[in-house]
Amino acid sequence: MVFVRGLKILAILYRGGDAAKQEPRLLGTVENELGLRSWLESQGHEYIVSDDKEGPNSVFQKQIQDADILITTPFHPGYVTPEVFNKAKNLKVCVTAGVGSDHINLNTAIDKKVQVLEVTGSNVTSVAEHVVMNMLLLVRNFVPAHEMIERGDWDVSQVARNAFDLEGKVIGTIGAGRIGHRVLQRVLPFNPKELVYYDYNPLPEEAAKAVGARRIDTVEELVSQCDVVTVNCPLHEGTRGLINADLLKKFKPGAWLVNTARGAICDKFAVADALKSGQLRGYAGDVWDVQPAPKDHPWRAMKNPLGGGNGMVPHYSGTTLDAQQRYAAGTKSILEKYFQGKEQEPANVIVGIGKWATKAYGQR
Ligand code: NAI
Repeated sequence: MVFVRGLKILAILYRGGDAAKQEPRLLGTVENELGLRSWLESQGHEYIVSDDKEGPNSVFQKQIQDADILITTPFHPGYVTPEVFNKAKNLKVCVTAGVGSDHINLNTAIDKKVQVLEVTGSNVTSVAEHVVMNMLLLVRNFVPAHEMIERGDWDVSQVARNAFDLEGKVIGTIGAGRIGHRVLQRVLPFNPKELVYYDYNPLPEEAAKAVGARRIDTVEELVSQCDVVTVNCPLHEGTRGLINADLLKKFKPGAWLVNTARGAICDKFAVADALKSGQLRGYAGDVWDVQPAPKDHPWRAMKNPLGGGNGMVPHYSGTTLDAQQRYAAGTKSILEKYFQGKEQEPANVIVGIGKWATKAYGQR
């Protein structure tokens, strides 16, 4: 068996501050280092961990130059652009501690023969639960109702005038992979009018039958038929800006949109405009086109004409404590396999050496 030693491993994680010191299960933080330090050092590797990722003088940009392995999380991504790849002379593997590797330029990874691996499935249930919560809080107009209570007010009609039931609605997902499928499974007991999906990879027949989901051929048709749309596909060339002003016009007036996939799948200004005009009754999710989101990002404070419809939170749906335990363990297992020269779990391979391994990042 091969045992690779002496590698330089760079991890870009978010800073957890006091919370991470008090809660050791916040594994995906700079403070708790995915729980990997003593293990990596005992294997003879160097382990550098930082949250400092922006600009040419950042730890990320400096240390990537001779790192062998990069670990990042989608929650605080080190963006691996073609320029970064050009600097990263020793880079062999990028590991995503979580799911979604769009922060890495995957075409360049193929050219440079850098593998891209992720902990597939590690947080898909966490996200699916968040999606269902988002649907409910938008459809039931929860956020303005709670804010009213905190303000000390009490005006039932003011919130009930924009509150509905999820029951009887047409619910559709763009992308029906691990998360999209789990969302369909979880909303079925709410007795929707119909469940529909758009994905060039159809659900396996049994899975589609079990949730009773109808496949729709185009995204335009899907959005025109749904009361609630949820986005559950990766960000790639075919989905960047997919939900733009033109597509939003094709939504049913007053539809709700939930996006926990990636912020850049939606045009931020078009979404804010659609919410302001009432074309969208609500928008919720946890993903932003740049993370951390700037203070003046339009999604922070956008509202519908009745003053509600905003369910935005920081990127945390896939980083519950349960999920962190799974993606930290999964990252360790990926590294262990790499050090021992063993084959990776096929589902974890996004880009193999010089080739695409997944079918989820667009039709190629
Ligand atoms: P998956 O690979 O199991 O499924 C993705 C599905 O999207 C595939 O079936 C694929 O064919 C489909 N797809 C790709 N392009 C499409 C397009 N143009 N139109 C319709 N469908 C398309 O991935 P999984 O595990 O379901 O995750 C999906 C995405 O969710 C991730 O790529 C990531 O961006 C996001 N995510 C967000 C998290 C969060 O914390 N907010 C955590 C985990 C994932």
